[in-house]
Amino acid sequence: MYRSHNCGELRESDIEKEVTLSGWVQKTRDKGFVAWVDLRDRYGITQLVFDQDRTSETLLEQARNLGREFVIQVKGQVIERASKNPNLPTGNIEVLVTALTVLNQSETPPFTIENETDGGEDLRMKFRYLDIRRNPVKENLIFRSKVAMEVRKYLSDAGFIEVETPYLIKSTPEGARDFVVPSRMNEGQFYALPQSPQTFKQLLMVGGLDKYFQIVKCFRDEDLRADRQPEFTQIDCEMAFVEQEDILDAFEGLTKYLLKEINGVDIEKFPRMTYDAAMKKYGNDKPDIRFGMEFGELNSVAQHKAFNVFNNAELVVGIAVPGANSYTRKEIDKLTDWVKRPQVGALGMVYCRCNDDGGYKSSVDKFYDQDDLAQWAQVTGAKPGDLICVLSGDTNKVRAQLSALRMELAERLGLRDPKEFAPLWVIDFPLLELDEETGHYHAMHHPFTAPKPGQLSLLETDPGAVRANAYDLVLNGNEIGGGSIRIHDKQMQAVMFKHLGFTPEAAKAQFGFLMDAFQYGAPPHGGIAFGLDRLVAILGGQETIRDFIAFPKNNSGRDVMIDAPATIDDAQLTELGLRLNVPLE
Ligand code: AMO
Repeated sequence: MYRSHNCGELRESDIEKEVTLSGWVQKTRDKGFVAWVDLRDRYGITQLVFDQDRTSETLLEQARNLGREFVIQVKGQVIERASKNPNLPTGNIEVLVTALTVLNQSETPPFTIENETDGGEDLRMKFRYLDIRRNPVKENLIFRSKVAMEVRKYLSDAGFIEVETPYLIKSTPEGARDFVVPSRMNEGQFYALPQSPQTFKQLLMVGGLDKYFQIVKCFRDEDLRADRQPEFTQIDCEMAFVEQEDILDAFEGLTKYLLKEINGVDIEKFPRMTYDAAMKKYGNDKPDIRFGMEFGELNSVAQHKAFNVFNNAELVVGIAVPGANSYTRKEIDKLTDWVKRPQVGALGMVYCRCNDDGGYKSSVDKFYDQDDLAQWAQVTGAKPGDLICVLSGDTNKVRAQLSALRMELAERLGLRDPKEFAPLWVIDFPLLELDEETGHYHAMHHPFTAPKPGQLSLLETDPGAVRANAYDLVLNGNEIGGGSIRIHDKQMQAVMFKHLGFTPEAAKAQFGFLMDAFQYGAPPHGGIAFGLDRLVAILGGQETIRDFIAFPKNNSGRDVMIDAPATIDDAQLTELGLRLNVPLE
C-alpha cells in the first residue's frame, strides 16, 4: 500500500494515528538536529518532521539527501505541530517520520513548483507536466473536469444523447482553414479534421435522435489569440422540432445551471439584444454589459459646424468615461496614442472634460461652444467628473475602434469584475457577410443557417439585409456559444449554396450527402455549440483559455513539449503519396 491517507487530509483529529503518505518533495528545511519536508500530492501539502532525538540520526541523514521533486513514501505518526500554519488545511499537524523510502529521484526542476513560479511561459509549456503539479494549473484542470461533468449531467437529465461523430471527415466550412490528413489507402486524397461536427449533428436529426450533444474536439487552422486554440473543445448540441425560442430556453437553462452549481450565482432571465443594437450601442457583437459606457452617436449634434474631421465622417461616436475628468493632459495624450496604435487604428481622438461645476472643456473648443458640448454630454450620458472620448470615421471601423477603447478603459478602471457574470443573447445576426476583399458574400454563421421567415426574397435584392435565425451567447464580453435554426429543405439549401457562390456541381460534390439526406424527411431542427474552453475560463474568472487546457499550443500553433508539428521522414511521405512529383534519390 503506497498510502493510507493523501497529503491534504490529515487534521488534529488524526493525532496519534500511524499513517503512510506518498508524494513529491516540495521543500526541505534543515535545522541540524531536526529537518522538515513539505510533502505534496494532488490533494495538498503535509509537513513531515525528521528528528534525531525522537526517531533516528540515519533517517535525518536520509531526509537531508532528498532533492526537490523526489517521489517518496513515508510512514510515521501524526503529531500536533508546535508552530501551526493557519494558511494550510493540514497546518495544525505534522507527521513524525519513522520510515522513508525513495520511490524515485528527480532532476532539479527547471522552475519552482509553487503557486508563484519563476518559470516563464515558454519554459512552463516545455515542461508542462511539471507546470501541472503547480496548484493554479492543477486547480484549473480540476475545475474544467467539474464543469464538463455538470454539463453532461444537466444535458443527459434533459434527455440529450451523447453521440460521437468522426474526426476524419470531409471539410465543413465554418469560416476557418481546415487541417487535413493525407490518406494512405486513397493516394492523393485527404481527410479534413472537423471544424465542428455541424453536418453530422444535422444528419443525426435526420436519423431521428431528436436531442444530441457531444463534448468534442474541433480543429481550426486560424490565427491564434488568448481565446483561440487550433484544437479546442465544444459542447455541441442539436435538437429536432424546435424553433429559436426552444433552443434559447434550453441552453439558457444549461448556462443558468452552471452559473448556479459552479459559481453560486442566480440569474433570473438572460437579456437579449439584436445584433444591430449591439453594434450601435457597443460597436461589437459580443458586448461586455457588466458596465455602461454605451456609445452615443453624435452626428446630429457634432456635424455641420466648422470642424471638418467630423463633417466628413460617416459616424461620429463617443463614450462617457466615468470619473475620467481627473485624467491629466498627459494621460489623455497617452490614451490618444493608444487608439492610434496600428492594432486599433484610429486617426485621432477628440475629448471633452465634464467639469464638476457643470462646464465643459474640449480639445475642439474652437469649433464647439458650451451648449454644443452639453448636447454631447446628453447624448453620451456623461455626468460632471466624466471624460467624453469621441472617435470618427467609417462606421464599421470607428465602431471597432471605440469598442476597443471602451474595453481598455473598463479594464483600467477595474470595471471588468471576474466575479460578476453578465450573460447576453445576441440575436438576429445577418445571414451573410460581405468580404471586403473579394466583394463576395459568405455565410456569417455557416451555410446551413436558415434566414428569418419571409426574408428569402431579399436574398436577390439586398443580401446584406437578410437576417438569420442565428444567435450567440455572450458572457462578460466573450462569445461562449453560437448556433442557429437550420435549413431543412433541400430546395432552400440549394438556393443558399447558390448565393454563397457554389455552382450546383460544387455544392453536390461538397454537400451532396446532406442534400441527399434532406430528401428523406429531415425534421425542422436547430442547435448551438458552446466553446467549452472559453466557458470554463470565464466561469473560472479568467480569459486565457490556454490556462484551462492540459497541453495547449503556443501562439505559433506549436506544442513545444512534444515539438509538433514536425517533419516526417521520406519513407512516410512516399507511403502517403506526398512525394508524387519528387524523384526518389
Ligand atoms: P461557432 O463557430 O460559433 O459555431 O463555434 C462555437 C463556439 O466555439 C468556440 N470557438 C473556439 N474556442 C476556442 N478556440 C477556437 N479557435 C474557437 N472557435 C470557436 C466559441 C464559439 O462560440 N457548428 C457551429 C455551432 C452551431 O451552429 O450549432 C459552430 O461551430 O465559443
